[in-house]
Amino acid sequence: MKIAVLGASGGCGRQLVEQAARRGHTVTAVARTTSKLEVPPGVKVDRGDLTSAEFLRGVVKGQDAVVSALGLRMPGLAPWHRPEDGTFLSRSTAALLEAMKAEGTRRVLAISAGGVGDSAALVPGFFRWMIKLTALKTAYAQLADMERQLFESGLDVCVPRPTGLTDGPLTNKAVTTRALVGRATISRADVAAWMLDQLDRPSFAERAPIITVTGAA
Ligand SMILES: NC(=O)c1ccc[n+]([C@@H]2O[C@H](COP(=O)([O-])OP(=O)(O)OC[C@H]3O[C@@H](n4cnc5c(N)ncnc54)[C@H](OP(=O)(O)O)[C@@H]3O)[C@@H](O)[C@H]2O)c1
Repeated sequence: MKIAVLGASGGCGRQLVEQAARRGHTVTAVARTTSKLEVPPGVKVDRGDLTSAEFLRGVVKGQDAVVSALGLRMPGLAPWHRPEDGTFLSRSTAALLEAMKAEGTRRVLAISAGGVGDSAALVPGFFRWMIKLTALKTAYAQLADMERQLFESGLDVCVPRPTGLTDGPLTNKAVTTRALVGRATISRADVAAWMLDQLDRPSFAERAPIITVTGAA
């Protein structure tokens, strides 16, 4: 399969690139010009403005699927610092959808977060307080807007909502859940593996599932 990975320099993005290449996919790693990026041999790199539909048309042309690990950069100690660009995800999603529609690329998976949209009631009260009162407020509003645009696009869309991300190992034990209990976490490696597994299906089973390794009730 031909797959473009947006946000290839991030924690989940790096995992997506490495694992997709290991699975034998033809991978294009996409990042802005300033990103630190190292990719395995055979992976193509495409750098540019992730909010430009023109740039993204070139990226998505001929791809079987797009997977996005884009997020808001939080300089300093997140979640107490302001995001570097508080509207980035809204603008990049709009540009991506314009590009995909123009090029006829229909499948897209984009990482959201547990607690976004109708999953808010499922996360612990303390975390809901953090979302309301810290810089996470901007990040969650941006992820909600990203989800809304994707759902309204008419494309073949899946926005997994991971629980707390870790840099732990790949366990291949990610599950979807409708209830959480205790400490809910998933490694970036398991998020990537779960996303790539979905591309092996003819269509996505769920539109916005919570995915986790620990804490599924
Ligand atoms: N932390 C958690 O516990 C948690 C839980 C659930 C969901 N999530 C969400 O999961 C997603 C992935 O997380 P992660 O830890 O892998 O993220 P990350 O390491 O912060 O990676 C974010 C990616 O977005 C790119 N990016 C940010 N601003 C950009 C801009 N203005 N232009 C171009 N690229 C830009 C970054 O590029 P650069 O390298 O150039 O900055 C990087 O590739 C995020 O949306 C996050 O909110 C996080």
